[in-house]
Amino acid sequence: MPLTDETRAAAREIIARYPVGRERSALLPMLHLVQAAEGCVTAEGVDLCAREIGITAAEVSAVATFYTMYKRRPVGDWLVSVCTNLSCALMGGQEVYDRISKKLGVGHDQTTPDGSITLEHAECLAACDYAPVMTVNYEFYDGVDEGAAEGLVEALQRGERPLPTRGGPLCTFAEVSRQLAGFEDPRPEGIAGPGFLEPSVAGLTLAEQAGWRGEVAGSSAAGPAGAVPVEDVPVEDVPPDRVPADGARSGATPAAGAPTTTPAAPAATKSKGA
Ligand code: FES
Repeated sequence: MPLTDETRAAAREIIARYPVGRERSALLPMLHLVQAAEGCVTAEGVDLCAREIGITAAEVSAVATFYTMYKRRPVGDWLVSVCTNLSCALMGGQEVYDRISKKLGVGHDQTTPDGSITLEHAECLAACDYAPVMTVNYEFYDGVDEGAAEGLVEALQRGERPLPTRGGPLCTFAEVSRQLAGFEDPRPEGIAGPGFLEPSVAGLTLAEQAGWRGEVAGSSAAGPAGAVPVEDVPVEDVPPDRVPADGARSGATPAAGAPTTTPAAPAATKSKGA
């Protein structure tokens, strides 16, 4: 679908959200906008972004080719992404991908002949606690197995929109791309559904049940007054003599005798990262 005056007007609306002189900050949402209109980032879309922002096509292309969410070939109505990174692979993610690939007759970054479904291997989708996971147009289907995944794509092929495990009901790739460009989902139900489920808070639940508490700045309950955990302090604010001997900041046991807390950073320094 060619880019229209409406697309151009929407692009200008995006640019207007940013301060004068910072127009290039609008590039990421604008690339989603042209994907919404054309199914991928075309040469025409690159040209529109460059002209409207006032940068070169090479600069736009450099961004568009860096991020995997920007597609260079047309995507179908349904972008099916299967995580095959470590946690999901251990739980059967590769087998899920292979089953869907065989079912659809397409491989990574390919679209079915009818143009409806695009399949891709995905890097970690930040949902390892639900592994193996897959998404359709970035909506999650958690803890799938080969049969469930195959059933999902069969439903998509029948024109159905199976409810994701979390979040709102499915919308098409064009629709979700427009939302990623910063335009509101017009469906009231679009913000329905849980944002997270029990596995995401399992650690918190366990800590609450066990009565575990972390150190809080200024608290005398779990350390000296004014102390904060060393891993909460920006690295540049940690005095050299307070860094564990092995240089570890978090997730590792400090060397014997090494301090594990440092005095609270000055207020001005702390607010810098707030
Ligand atoms: S490895 Fe699959 S979501 Fe993290």
